[in-house]
Amino acid sequence: MKRQYQIFVLTILALSVLCISCSDLKKDTSAPTSPVSKNYSPYNCNSCHGNETNAAPPKDLEGNTSISAPGVGAHQSHLLAIDSVGAVVACNECHTVPKFANDVGHLDSTPGAEVVFQGAVSTARFSHIAGADTAAKYSNTTLHCTNTYCHGYFPNGNRVSPTWTDESGQYRACGSCHGDPTKSTTGERALPKTRLNGGSHLSVQDNANIFQCYRCHPSAIDANYNLNFSRHINGQVDF
Ligand code: HEC
Ligand code: HEC
Ligand code: HEC
Ligand code: HEC
Repeated sequence: MKRQYQIFVLTILALSVLCISCSDLKKDTSAPTSPVSKNYSPYNCNSCHGNETNAAPPKDLEGNTSISAPGVGAHQSHLLAIDSVGAVVACNECHTVPKFANDVGHLDSTPGAEVVFQGAVSTARFSHIAGADTAAKYSNTTLHCTNTYCHGYFPNGNRVSPTWTDESGQYRACGSCHGDPTKSTTGERALPKTRLNGGSHLSVQDNANIFQCYRCHPSAIDANYNLNFSRHINGQVDF
């Protein structure tokens, strides 16, 4: 009984220390002056969200680990090369990343994370389509991304609005961002719109080798359609 009481008191103490530290973090909104002055160790970046590999969910702020939880979503398939079909996306391409946990705008009063696209996802030379709304956006109500360069918001791309919590893998299938995912061979699926439907590639009727992407894009793909991830979805068309 005595031992249980001790554990109870210790837990309450530990929790109150945690709460005080958290609210201190929230209150201190001044800009960091030096790494030492604002580095609230042991509050490592992955202590409230993330895992040993990186600070991105899972786990999310509620402790969820499933892709179907919006806080988790497609984080890891963008951040890690496994499951990816292209160059890895850095945190700061989708968020303003705090240097320290108490940075202004990090732990703020608006619930949920702020998704602010910057870098290649929004400024790739291809992302600007005349007359169209060019800003890449994320909606935390529909859970869709729209106008992202990566998912085909470029001339002859498919302009897909992927669902952040999709578990089927359809948005990384060949043909999703450019081409036609319903076709049978990889080359047919991946080939962007041809001149027959307003695109720039020749059709197979005009160039029998057109499905052999490596002939013109050898730095991004080989003869067996293995992609060089550092050259694919990197913001420019590579040859
Ligand atoms: C491809 C874009 C993308 C990248 C890259 C990305 N995030 Fe996110 N992140 C999102 C989206 C979208 C959400 C919002 C989900 C929602 O609440 O609807 C989010 C939400 C979050 C949340 C809130 C989780 C919750 O429980 O609500 C945290 C924390 C977070 N991201 C941290 C990170 C960190 C750290 C990195 C890098 C290691 C990172 N993110 C990289 C898109 C991204
Ligand atoms: C005390 C807990 C805690 C710690 C420690 C922490 N975060 Fe967060 N983080 C949060 C919360 C809560 C949110 C959701 C922010 C909101 O409500 O706007 C968040 C959101 C984020 C986001 C999404 C963008 C945003 O600001 O909404 C990124 C990126 C992020 N954190 C990175 C980091 C990094 C990098 C560190 C280490 C320097 C860190 N976090 C440390 C609690 C924490
Ligand atoms: C998530 C979206 C997405 C998917 C899925 C995708 N691509 Fe791409 N692909 C792009 C983007 C964006 C470009 C534009 C150029 C760039 O940034 O690399 C591109 C360009 C290419 C190019 C031109 C060379 C270059 O610069 O990269 C080839 C070849 C290519 N993709 C083949 C494929 C094949 C084969 C598959 C299926 C295995 C595939 N793509 C799936 C987004 C995608
Ligand atoms: C005969 C050479 C050639 C072949 C073969 C070729 N491409 Fe291209 N590709 C180009 C050129 C040239 C451009 C730049 C077009 C422009 O800027 O107008 C391009 C551009 C692209 C783009 C950017 C979007 C667009 O339509 O301009 C993608 C995506 C792409 N290629 C994917 C592929 C894929 C996937 C294959 C194989 C299925 C392939 N290409 C085969 C020459 C080729």
